[in-house]
Amino acid sequence: MKTPLCKKLGIDAPIFAFSHCRDVVVEASKSGAFGVLGAVGFTPDQLKTQLDWIDQHIGDKPYGVDVVMPQKDAWADEADLDALQKKLKSMIPPEAIAFAKKILADAGVPELPEDAVHEGDYLIRSTAATAREHVRLALERPNVRLIANALGAPPPDVTKMIKDSGRLLAGLCGSADQARSHAAAGVDIIIAQGTEGGGHTGEIGSMVLWPEVIEAVSPIPVLAAGGVGTGAQIAAALMLGAQGVWTGSLWLTSIESDLTEEQRELLLAASSRDTVRSRSLTGKPCRMLKNDWTNAWEAPGAPATLPLPLQDMVAAEATSRAKAYPARARAVTINPVGQIVGKMNQIERTRDIVYRLIEEYFEATERFAPLSRYESDEEV
Ligand SMILES: Cc1cc2nc3c(=O)[nH]c(=O)nc-3n(C[C@H](O)[C@H](O)[C@H](O)COP(=O)(O)O)c2cc1C
Repeated sequence: MKTPLCKKLGIDAPIFAFSHCRDVVVEASKSGAFGVLGAVGFTPDQLKTQLDWIDQHIGDKPYGVDVVMPQKDAWADEADLDALQKKLKSMIPPEAIAFAKKILADAGVPELPEDAVHEGDYLIRSTAATAREHVRLALERPNVRLIANALGAPPPDVTKMIKDSGRLLAGLCGSADQARSHAAAGVDIIIAQGTEGGGHTGEIGSMVLWPEVIEAVSPIPVLAAGGVGTGAQIAAALMLGAQGVWTGSLWLTSIESDLTEEQRELLLAASSRDTVRSRSLTGKPCRMLKNDWTNAWEAPGAPATLPLPLQDMVAAEATSRAKAYPARARAVTINPVGQIVGKMNQIERTRDIVYRLIEEYFEATERFAPLSRYESDEEV
């Protein structure tokens, strides 16, 4: 099961576990997989706290940090995060905020108290200014062996900084063209994410996308993402030529995940038909559970969603209020997750998920072994 990439990173199994939850990252890496912390939901100060905690708990195991960094950022010149926050806020049309507030009011979700801290007031997601700080902090940590960027290749100076530090740079893509351009920009590992996946996702299904990308960028290693939830799927991905799998949804229902009880219940009950690609969270198509929030943004008369990162600031109204009132916000909570949610039917320890995937992988390869030789009818 050890691919060349496992040897490069010092891991036992080519299973990459993406999570915004530090406990999942630590447990995944300690179980022989490779945990990757999603940084986008943290301010630089918050990320520092998360990384300190991981470093205290992960022992000598390696891990990665994922940022959301556009290669060309319209706001790249503004390095002062407070000034940028004010500038971006002033660009949001009041109708967009009013619409978000109406969806929440219709669902019966209370307003935050006057003095409550609102996520949209302090966090700027998906801009180079924030992500640069994330990368800088990550590169201070010796156990961080990989930096991934959700949006592919970062700006050239950041790419150089990551590579000069000896870390591997990974970039997500949803098409072979994107993969080629990431490769040309110096990305070391391409993550090919099929449309099934949770979070930002393209239109091409994994079974078609993975081999297209592998062929397009060979010999650059490719990780297969989008819809992986069993060891047999890992076997299929390796069989197609991937050097590992990159998974995200699977860990949301783990014991270590920091979702609310309500979110966990919704995910456990959902089928693989219950997701939708919606621009209502970030402005880019993002797969999440279909609900009253996603439906409202699709309904006739709804305002157009805003581009990254402005829609994020509008959606912060929903994320902050859902965090404060999880039970009353059940119908409008934003729940990014992929179609594999249909198979996520029980709460498991992160460690047990890793071990289950490895076990299932070997069962699948054993099933396949007798089929791996060509025999004519006469020989059988
Ligand atoms: C809740 C959630 C949040 C995500 N956020 C990010 C992110 O911040 N950065 C990123 O590169 N990918 C993000 N993704 C995508 C994952 O990295 C991964 O590519 C995807 O989950 C793989 O497909 P799967 O969900 O079928 O496992 C997210 C996925 C989920 C489910």
